[in-house]
Amino acid sequence: MAVGSPENRDTWGSKVAFILAAAGSAIGLGNIWGFPTQAGRNGGAAFLVIYLIAVAVIGAPVMLSELIIGRKTQRNPVGAFKQLAPRSAWYMVGGLGVLGGVLILSFYSVIAGWTLAYIIKAVTGAFRSEIDTAALYNSVSGSAVPAIGWHLLFIVITVWVVLGGIRQGIERWTKILMPVLFALLVLLAIRAVTLPGAGTGLDFYLKPDFSAVTAGVVVNAVGQAFFSMSLGMGAMITYGSYVSKKDDLVSSAAWVTGADTLIAMMAGLIIFPTLFASGFDPNVEGPGMVFVVLPSLLASIPPEPYGGLIFGTGFFVLLGIAGLTSSISLLEVGVTWAVDETGFSRKKAAITLASIAFIVGIPSALANGAVPWLTSIPGIGMDFLTLMFTIFGVFALIVGALFISVFVGWYWGIENAGEEVRANDGKFPLGRTWAFLIRWLVPIALAGVLINTVLQTF
Ligand code: PHE
Repeated sequence: MAVGSPENRDTWGSKVAFILAAAGSAIGLGNIWGFPTQAGRNGGAAFLVIYLIAVAVIGAPVMLSELIIGRKTQRNPVGAFKQLAPRSAWYMVGGLGVLGGVLILSFYSVIAGWTLAYIIKAVTGAFRSEIDTAALYNSVSGSAVPAIGWHLLFIVITVWVVLGGIRQGIERWTKILMPVLFALLVLLAIRAVTLPGAGTGLDFYLKPDFSAVTAGVVVNAVGQAFFSMSLGMGAMITYGSYVSKKDDLVSSAAWVTGADTLIAMMAGLIIFPTLFASGFDPNVEGPGMVFVVLPSLLASIPPEPYGGLIFGTGFFVLLGIAGLTSSISLLEVGVTWAVDETGFSRKKAAITLASIAFIVGIPSALANGAVPWLTSIPGIGMDFLTLMFTIFGVFALIVGALFISVFVGWYWGIENAGEEVRANDGKFPLGRTWAFLIRWLVPIALAGVLINTVLQTF
């Protein structure tokens, strides 16, 4: 049989399994760490409103488009474009995605590695009232050996899950992990909104003041939406490629989008009341929100030391789980590509690509104090991790999504795409709306965002 021919491919066991896995990819550090940080810096409730609009009119149509490309071709992102647009350069969009996946994984696993360290700290009772969270954060992220060590451990766990393949690895784990994650979030949200003084935080988060909205705020909302929904780099093409022809794509896309958005909103509900209740400024820099501010709240939950132990461990286990179900998708894009296109075994592909991500991630691991010139790169002023995030976690995703929308809307065409959607039951709810958005609104908005970003950077 030819390499990567669709006949010998694994598929998800059911539609629910696929939705959980895709939601697992979407829900990650981007929701729990990224979203509240962005909302805090960009005006709170007004950002939330703009974010929701961006998700609905830009993110969701792109999500559906990626799933369509994946299921139609049952290929990795590179192979998918090769099949739909032979003898053209479109496959390079898929190539960008494969590369992006490995490079995003390189820094993602550094941050996710910190969560592993925090789990150990929480379990061993570090979350007590006298905790110095800034010192705790420094001890985890600021010196070379622990930072690289946790990064390595997280990559190893990621590889281990991916080695199991689609059904036995990714599906089996996300089915268990996602519901646990959800339950933990609900518990923490209840705890947060019932804190004394939670009201100011809820106002900041839920009562919009649009006077401070600038183009920059809109750009940040769009970037956050793409990263959070795992769009623009082929993760959803890859996951879509394992979807059975019997399943309905529109409702799947809606479920994944809805779940991702719900979790981000819940993370805000946890973070802002606690932030204000403990007198912090919502405009915290970098990773401070989840790794410095929140632990002080977790540590203060009575009775000592059990409150900190239980809620601290719970929260960071949750963050680690969310990170893991995302990092496996980042690696899976490249693994599916290597298995389909190069004939590598799953094992060889996973180990090779993860090793690359590990090595490329070392400077990111050293960029939080361990090595000064990586912590503030001369001439740029940013740390290396933030730089990688800006290039591959924001810019590349927007470029990728722009190409995907032009490809589906104009090159391959909405008729072909619509046919794939209707393959199971002949229906395409909201088909016209989707077609309008993917042809006009999405590409124009993304081009605007890119122009704005370029103008602001130079
Ligand atoms: N969506 C993931 C998160 O929110 C990150 C991610 C981005 C995963 C792109 C895959 C692809 O953490």
